[in-house]
Formats: sequence, C-alpha cells, structure tokens
Amino acid sequence: MTQAMNIGVFIPIGNNGWLLSENAPQYKPSFDLNKQITLKAEHYGFDFALSMIKLRGFGGKTEFWDHNLESFTLMAGLAAVTSRIKLYATAPTLCLPPAIVARMASTIDSISNGRFGINLVTGWQRPEYSQMGLWPGDEYFGRRYEYLSEYAQILRELWETGRSDLKGEFFQMEDCRLSPRPQAEMKIICAGQSAAGMAFTATYADYNFCFGKGVNTPTAFAPTVERLEEAKAKTGRDVSSYVLFMIISDETDEAARAKWEHYKAGADEEAIAWLGLQGAADTKSGADTNIRQMADPTSAVNINMGTLVGSYATVAALLDEVVSVPGTGGVLLTFDDFLKGLDDFGTRIQPLMRSRRHIAGASGPLAEVA
Ligand SMILES: Cc1cc2nc3c(=O)[nH]c(=O)nc-3n(C[C@H](O)[C@H](O)[C@H](O)COP(=O)(O)O)c2cc1C
Repeated sequence: MTQAMNIGVFIPIGNNGWLLSENAPQYKPSFDLNKQITLKAEHYGFDFALSMIKLRGFGGKTEFWDHNLESFTLMAGLAAVTSRIKLYATAPTLCLPPAIVARMASTIDSISNGRFGINLVTGWQRPEYSQMGLWPGDEYFGRRYEYLSEYAQILRELWETGRSDLKGEFFQMEDCRLSPRPQAEMKIICAGQSAAGMAFTATYADYNFCFGKGVNTPTAFAPTVERLEEAKAKTGRDVSSYVLFMIISDETDEAARAKWEHYKAGADEEAIAWLGLQGAADTKSGADTNIRQMADPTSAVNINMGTLVGSYATVAALLDEVVSVPGTGGVLLTFDDFLKGLDDFGTRIQPLMRSRRHIAGASGPLAEVA
C-alpha cells in the first residue's frame, strides 16, 4: 500500500522562481502572483506553502534573484486571503532578534487562525548579510548551528511559556515576554544538511527539508534522510523529511523533455558562476552541505534541486515513489511555470497519484482566483 504524501509549494518570492535560464519564463515576484499561486495550491488540496528569504541575488543576464520580496510580510498577506493551507515564512536569523520573530509568528498565527510556522535558516551566503553590516565574520560558518540552537530555544520558550530568561553566548534574555502566544503549536522547519544542521534539526525542528537529487531519480535523496534518522536516534524526537523537486510536465514525455532541454540550453552561466563562488566560500562545513550540490554542473540551471520531467502519468508515478523512502513525509514542489504547472498538477497529475488518493474532489480546475 502506498503511504499518503503531504505536498507543499515553494512559492516564487524571487524573480523567475528556480530556473536560472534565459529560456525560462521571465517574471518578477509580486503579491498578486503569489496570491494566485497559493490560492490555486489551496484549491488543489496542497498541505502547505513556504517562502524563502533571499537578500542578495546572483546577477547575470536574468538578474537571478536580484528581485525578492520579504518572507514574513508576504505570508502575512497570504494568511489573510487563504483559509485552509498551512503557511511557512523563513526567518533570516542573523537579521531579526528571536523575540521579534516570535512575535511576528504570533501575529501571523492570529491572522491565519493557527496555520503558520517558520523555516529557520542560519544564512550561507556572506554578501546577503555583509551588505548590511550583519555578517559576524567567516568563523560564523563553523558556529552557525550553535547560534541557531540558542535562537530556537528562545523561540520555543516564548511560544510555550510566554517568557525567556535564556543566558547564552549569543543571546541574553532578561525576563523577556511574549503575549499573545500562538493558538496552535508553532512548527519549525530546518533545511540544514550538514552534520551540525542535521543535529540541530533532530533537536529543535519538526520537519527536515532536503534537496531531491538528479533527474527522474525520485529516491536518490534517501541517504540524506538516513543521516537524519541517525541524528533522530540520538534525540528520540519525531521529525519527518520533505524533499524539494521541480516538476516539468507536459502531455508526453518527449514534450516535457524538450522543455527541460530548452531551459538548459538558455542557462544563465554568469549567475551560475556566481552561485559556485558563493557555495565555495564556506570552508568550515563538511562536504555534506548541499550548497555545493547547488552549483554542480549536472543541473545547475535549477540549482540541482532534483527534477521530475515527463508526461503527467510519468511524473505521478515518480512522485508516488518518493514516499517509499522511510521517514519521508512529503514533497515541496516548484514548477517552471507556476500557474500552469499548478493547474496541470491539480487536474492531470494528482488524480493519478496513489499517495494522494486521500485528496478527494480537488481535481477540477479553479475558475477564478483573483
Ligand atoms: C527547501 C529549502 C529551503 C531553503 N530556504 C532557505 C532560505 O530561505 N534562505 C537561506 O538562506 N537558505 C535556505 N536554504 C538553505 C538551508 O537553510 C541550508 O543553509 C542549506 O541546506 C545548507 O545546509 P547546512 O547549513 O547544514 O550546510 C534552504 C534549503 C532548502 C533545501
């Protein structure tokens, strides 16, 4: 029997989504676009939407990610116009004190009636923070999960008890207060892939997000989940893994494959080269950090996130395989064209998926979402 799968959409808070290609759809992020995408996702029974935080782009001909909205304010807007889907914002923990993030989370919990959670990131790209004088120095690469551990403890204390008195190395709280506290249990995502990141996730997070790997190899990420399972064995906590994939689908395998080849032929080499340089800047983490995977030449055009290319039936079958890896709760999806991709997913792919049989009656097209 196929296990049920949860599905989320990684909404395009930055320009051009996740394709660094002159041949891909070119668009700027806006509230209106992300609203349409999130309402479609909600209509098709998606479980959650996540937005990232990116404060400095990669440049190149496509000005890749030079244009980005801010994650919490975007999700607050989306919370007000949605009713079922869960929403996650990403906290740039070097920029925002934990007591402010705890309060922003309480606020969006209130706007959304308990549908909000956060993705905690340490930051991996120096220029995002050095441009505003907030990079603590390259020693931070080696200590970032110690910093994040204190940060997460303060969040948990404030959400659970309304107070934090934590006296740490990075933060000193003095009878810090939070009220109102969130009405729903606040879930934490962490996407750290290094040994330190995994240990953090196993101790403080509820979900581990990781990259898929390769093209049409839907279970190639399994070793990453195994590493999390080992980290979990030490903490005894329940943390499930979610895998990031880009879907490129069409009526036939050939048509989908042709689109993928077209995107690769237009790769923005300048932006990709910059990503490679940024990924190499961290010499403190082990080889298992997926920042280096992002710039690998195999599929740098979509930062090597793991790609499922094919007809609607092919993609449905590939997705069903993902949850065969023990410890996997679901997937986080991106699309080459989010609006069309979501409609194709909802009306053509999802109805064929055994792992989504529990989603009934959500397969009709959405007439109007404006
Ligand atoms: C699904 C997903 C979402 C991520 N979102 C962000 C983000 O919004 N901002 C960011 O700086 N890093 C983001 N990352 C990078 C991770 O936080 C982390 O730095 C990276 O996976 C490397 O792991 P490590 O820090 O353990 O080496 C994301 C990674 C994944 C897989």
